[in-house]
Amino acid sequence: MTHRPLMSDQTLFRDPDLFEFAHLPEVFNYRDTQLEDLAFALRPALRGARPLNTVLRGIPGTGKTTAVRLLFAEIRETTHAVVPVLVSCQTERTQYAVFSRIFLALSGHLPPPSGVSNTRVMAGVAHALAERGAVLIVCLDDVTRLIADGTLDSVLAPLLRMHEAWPGVRTGVVLTLSTPEADLSRVLDPSTLSVLQASEVLFPPYTAAEVRGILADRLRAGVYPGVVPPAVLDLVVERTMACGDLRVGLDVVKRAVLHAEREARTGVTAGDVLAAFAVSRHLHLTVAVEALTPAERAVLDAVLREERGGGPAVAGQVYDRLCGEMGYAAFSERLRKLETLRLVDLYVRPGRGRRREVVVREGVGEVAAPQAGVAEEEECRYETGKG
Ligand SMILES: Nc1ncnc2c1ncn2[C@@H]1O[C@H](COP(=O)(O)OP(=O)(O)OP(=O)(O)O)[C@@H](O)[C@H]1O
Ligand SMILES: [Mg+2]
Repeated sequence: MTHRPLMSDQTLFRDPDLFEFAHLPEVFNYRDTQLEDLAFALRPALRGARPLNTVLRGIPGTGKTTAVRLLFAEIRETTHAVVPVLVSCQTERTQYAVFSRIFLALSGHLPPPSGVSNTRVMAGVAHALAERGAVLIVCLDDVTRLIADGTLDSVLAPLLRMHEAWPGVRTGVVLTLSTPEADLSRVLDPSTLSVLQASEVLFPPYTAAEVRGILADRLRAGVYPGVVPPAVLDLVVERTMACGDLRVGLDVVKRAVLHAEREARTGVTAGDVLAAFAVSRHLHLTVAVEALTPAERAVLDAVLREERGGGPAVAGQVYDRLCGEMGYAAFSERLRKLETLRLVDLYVRPGRGRRREVVVREGVGEVAAPQAGVAEEEECRYETGKG
């Protein structure tokens, strides 16, 4: 028989999809209180009234998005008079992009890509709602990104104020926030805050026992019995707790099982877990770095190059490495954005000129390895004319 590596049927997985982040878990334990609080806030919508605005707050991997997806799915099954829309602010970052998503959910197609103003798209949304007599609930998922961009207010305000321009339209919002310290009162206009009046639902970090419970449930459904022995699961739990993100645990399990599979073993060893962890532990950084705009990425790369030169990276020198690619104000803003995204720390040194130092956070250098095909420019080329 010919060897067909791709077709190997020796799998240890019952269902590999269960380990994908997008998988909506069948069992969602340890979040009953949070689900109840959110359901309480959304319930008025089922009676045709405006739901209570809510902020879900908790570090990454604490089940915020999952809770919203589960309740939105339930609403969709129950009624057509409420339209729940989940918008990822990692990808939809402007007022136009967010409203286009909502328009799509209501009408089944996107607004024309150009030549349509914000107001027109909003009017389209309002008309569709009025026609259906429906209540709109928008979840702006992961608004941390909009806070970093400084655009949260411009996205949120028109949503909350829609009833002013279109009387009879009822809307409510759910915001999720993965930065515990973010203070909405500092980033929102007082007038937006006063219409938001959001209640907060806290998603505390999972305990070790809860992480173990969640991973064990997933393993029971996703891999064959005995593939991950209890002692190996303990190691995964310990590592997951050390980096504080359940997603890392799920990713480690998947990679470790794949690793064992590749070596044609029937069980996962501690070695598989450690090898997998080395890749998975920077998962959140990978996500953050991949979501950067090219200009933000250029600033991060310049900081990394400057750091590699030894000593602390001073903002002015990092700027010089960009060879005039952007103005200093834009550069400073991008630097602050990298700080908000927790990719770098900024320190102002007192004294002469208050020089700013930039320190790249642990793991970022590994994740943001120079992109293939992009030559590392160590010196600026000062030629003025082209060619
Ligand atoms: N209680 C739970 N039971 C089962 N799986 C869970 C539970 N909580 C979270 N998960 C899983 O962990 C992963 C992360 O959860 P989720 O995306 O809901 O986190 P989050 O709080 O939205 O994180 P982030 O702030 O990074 O967006 C998902 O794959 C989800 O299926
Ligand atoms: Mg989320």
